[in-house]
Amino acid sequence: MKIIIHGGFFSESDQSHETKTAKQNALKTIVQQAYAYLQSHSAFDTAAYAVSLLEDDPLFNAGIGSQIQGDGVIRMSSAIMDGSSQKMSGVINIQNVKNPVFVAKKLIGEEDRILGGEGAKKYASENGFEDFSTEIPQRRQEYEDKLKNGGRGTVGCVALDKEGKLAVATSTGGKGFEIPGRISDSATVAGNYANSFCAVSCTGVGEDIVSNATATKIVTRVTDGMSLQSAFDKTFQELKSIDGFAGAIAINREGNIFHQDSYPTMVFASFDGDSLQVFD
Ligand code: GLY
Repeated sequence: MKIIIHGGFFSESDQSHETKTAKQNALKTIVQQAYAYLQSHSAFDTAAYAVSLLEDDPLFNAGIGSQIQGDGVIRMSSAIMDGSSQKMSGVINIQNVKNPVFVAKKLIGEEDRILGGEGAKKYASENGFEDFSTEIPQRRQEYEDKLKNGGRGTVGCVALDKEGKLAVATSTGGKGFEIPGRISDSATVAGNYANSFCAVSCTGVGEDIVSNATATKIVTRVTDGMSLQSAFDKTFQELKSIDGFAGAIAINREGNIFHQDSYPTMVFASFDGDSLQVFD
């Protein structure tokens, strides 16, 4: 069993040392909590659970603490993908739910598996997800102060369970100040993709990740026989050629854990039962 999570980016120039320590500590706690959960749950259930813990922590730009869009409204996106069935489900630009990832997970059983905007919210309400405001005062202040890089990021988890099955989940509050209607990478196959060979979750600038098709490329390259490292290196070379801003986490079916970013510093933590690694 293996697990890796990410919580977006940390910027030495925009954020304090205290914020860095708080993010390191939060990721260490969440990755170990999610690993304990993985002992008795599938990779699919664990990916959703880990992302829900990240959504509940206002330090990260997803769920509670999500960034505010150009018209002053929070809209969130999330997706989950089961590597063995290769089914993905998700919500795009959903408002006022506490955990978009759980709405995405609920949709895996539907014929129509990716819903946007009002339809996603209506589906959530009809399926017992209560109205919940994910706005925190700090994000409103950043919005009022027009701080465009206040909480850059996304959260995600890749897990490998004891049956050797892979899954991935990703969730975001977007990039902040976007034009209403803009679609993030997080609920697309560029930002969140898995099959039985490999699973990948991305963070960074959605437009760059979609242009590069980051998660899909890495998974396809590994499926076609490339090592995880070579698949990342080639995909990130291509990303750098468009000056793309992104990071990605992955696990392959052999249980190798990998991560890479195009700019410092992606915030991540991984745990395999023995070794706990956290970004520095
Ligand atoms: N990666 C999050 C976004 O660009 O919306």
